Amino acid sequence: MKVLISGGAGYIGSTIASALLDGGHTPILLDSLVTGRREFTKNRIFYEADIADRAMVRQIFSEHPDIEATIHCAALIVVPESVAKPYEYYKENVVKSMEFFKLLAELGQKRVVFSSSAAVYDVVPGFMVTEESPLRPLSPYSRTKYMMEMVLKDFCSAYGLNAIALRYFNPIGADPKMRTGLHIRYPSHLIGKLVEVALGREPVFNLTGIDWPTRDGSGIRDYIHVWDLAQAHIKAVERFDSVIEQGREEDAPYTVINLGTGKGVTVKEFVMAFEDVYGQKLPVSLQPPRPGDVAGSYANADKAARLLGWKAELPIEQGIADALKWGKVRDTIIHY
Ligand SMILES: NC(=O)c1ccc[n+]([C@@H]2O[C@H](COP(=O)([O-])OP(=O)(O)OC[C@H]3O[C@@H](n4cnc5c(N)ncnc54)[C@H](O)[C@@H]3O)[C@@H](O)[C@H]2O)c1
Repeated sequence: MKVLISGGAGYIGSTIASALLDGGHTPILLDSLVTGRREFTKNRIFYEADIADRAMVRQIFSEHPDIEATIHCAALIVVPESVAKPYEYYKENVVKSMEFFKLLAELGQKRVVFSSSAAVYDVVPGFMVTEESPLRPLSPYSRTKYMMEMVLKDFCSAYGLNAIALRYFNPIGADPKMRTGLHIRYPSHLIGKLVEVALGREPVFNLTGIDWPTRDGSGIRDYIHVWDLAQAHIKAVERFDSVIEQGREEDAPYTVINLGTGKGVTVKEFVMAFEDVYGQKLPVSLQPPRPGDVAGSYANADKAARLLGWKAELPIEQGIADALKWGKVRDTIIHY
């Protein structure tokens, strides 16, 4: 099956492309390379363009009329940057996504899989969230995801689109075959920072937030191997029509699915797992939470099991091992 991946030169989109290739499918990549990497498009069908470039999107579908589904990963994703530059984030993630979805509908391209985020959820007692849990996106970035879910649902009701919004929890690791991985040179999130400290690029790991009402006071998250995440997309496109049939929300051919492991892991537990895999203790400094931090959440993953026939299989230790391995090979693959 041919599948268009917007943002296919990014961390997650490129991993989905690898998983599609390994599964005997053909990914077609559309990426402006605003943050993504040309190196990740090597030997792949690639269109370098913006998702709002209507002429290029039309050209892609005229050259590949057999594309059966579109996975929309393209977005700007850095939370603090979204606070500083909300205009850019709403323009790139909302306005351009709307234009892209409208054109897909005009072209008769019905099947859309949308990269949403667990960042849309409010913090709930016990920290486990189902797809029906209350939403409270706190940053402009997470509000773009929240908005696009609503837009997509309305477009599905009105314009003949069918869509699955996948709410990703916290992706870790890299393609186990090391074709692609996290490309950000100076990562700001947990595992990226730990790898930087382990590889001697940073002197100390700042563990921010130690007074949350969790079992050890540190934040709680649901770390999912990016390869497991990619496999869920393969299921989503392969089973697309039956997922929509079983998951329809109200009258819309639209459904939301959590992609997580179903297990909450605290930051302190994650650091310990990291040290076990790495084989050494890391210098850790305990710090107050950063502005906008929350205690966190983890997924109830029952709907993904029911509709996609998918569950995460790889333990966090494998995600950590693959991230460390990628940290070492990254600079031989990416030429900054
Ligand atoms: N990484 C995470 O922790 C995480 C968590 C939840 C959800 N997500 C979502 O997953 C998706 C992929 O994230 P990622 O981590 O791979 O990020 P990424 O930055 O690695 O990939 C995004 C890609 O989109 C491309 N892009 C951005 N705007 C574009 C545009 N207007 N036209 C064409 N291409 C454009 C970039 O060049 C990049 O290659 C995003 O939608 C993100 O919101 C990511």
